[in-house]
Amino acid sequence: MRVNGKDYRAVWWQDGAVGFVEQRTLPHRFETGFARTVEEAARAIEDMAVRGAPTIGVMAGYALALAARLGEDIGSAQDRLARTRPTAVNLWTGLGAVDSAAPDPDAMLAAARAYDDAEVAAAEAIGGHGAGLVKPGARILTHCNAGWLAAQDWGTALSVVFKAARSGLAPFVWVDETRPRLQGARLTSWELTQEGIEHRIVADGAAAYLMRQGQVDLAVTGTDRVAANGDVANKIGTYGVALSANAHGVPFYVAAPLSSIDRSTLSGADITMEERSEDEVLYSEGLDAQGRLTRVRVAPEGAKALNPAFDVTPGGLVTGLITEVGIVDASRDGLDQAFGRGGRADSDGS
Ligand code: MRU
Repeated sequence: MRVNGKDYRAVWWQDGAVGFVEQRTLPHRFETGFARTVEEAARAIEDMAVRGAPTIGVMAGYALALAARLGEDIGSAQDRLARTRPTAVNLWTGLGAVDSAAPDPDAMLAAARAYDDAEVAAAEAIGGHGAGLVKPGARILTHCNAGWLAAQDWGTALSVVFKAARSGLAPFVWVDETRPRLQGARLTSWELTQEGIEHRIVADGAAAYLMRQGQVDLAVTGTDRVAANGDVANKIGTYGVALSANAHGVPFYVAAPLSSIDRSTLSGADITMEERSEDEVLYSEGLDAQGRLTRVRVAPEGAKALNPAFDVTPGGLVTGLITEVGIVDASRDGLDQAFGRGGRADSDGS
């Protein structure tokens, strides 16, 4: 990813600390931060300065290597990092990859770097496979942010768009704003703007309308965890996109590196769904007239909200999973096929 003429990954290792792109100030201000302790890394994930399933896996991996370097107890560090967010399985995949090199700090840092590089390669390969689904001028709908901020360097769903654009296919993107944190309006739109890709932000409720109007050729999202039966957890609202796509004959694909597939979780019903603060629904954030980042209340004083952060889309509604080893069915057989193609180990280490 290139910002202001400089190459960045969403997360990196630098001078004994974990560097990261601060996602909470985007698109208004591009800032970077550093986690110098495990606690700082854990807070960055918890508070969503660093977010997106593959990216938090890389961050957790570097943070575990940091624990070893600082002489901290590796088991306690792993517990702390594993408690940050419950849904994205990549968190455990990243921790597992680095823990396998414990306790030697240099070996753990090398494992974290190797995991990072493997995630970059996976994200790029996903884009290559997915671009084959894109016809010239295709109108692609996406939900949340599954771009280079969420999956190192390329993204997952947006990797498909970036690769298609670089192949001259001129895709157009409908960007679901993605209430309540607006990852679509804030982050996906920012990435597409950086890449010069034509897009429009739409209210989440507009997706079904646009599909019914015949204005969507393809829907592609990312995922935080694919269960053993092909059920897919992703940002709240994804299930609605999948239902609408199926109702209107629009292909609905999910882009997923193998690090997001968790065959130790039997079905979507077994995936822990994160519930976040009701304030994310009750308040909105943006720039005021003086250009200051400001939070404003949008609901009446005293109103209560519920804020489930993810939902599950049954594998039967998914046209295909776009992985780094090719496109497979969102089913037990499809996952067997993907892992059989010489991919990396399962997230449970098997
Ligand atoms: O709560 P977030 O913003 O971390 O949720 C992220 C998503 O749901 C993404 O769509 C998912 O992680 C796939 S990212 C490549």
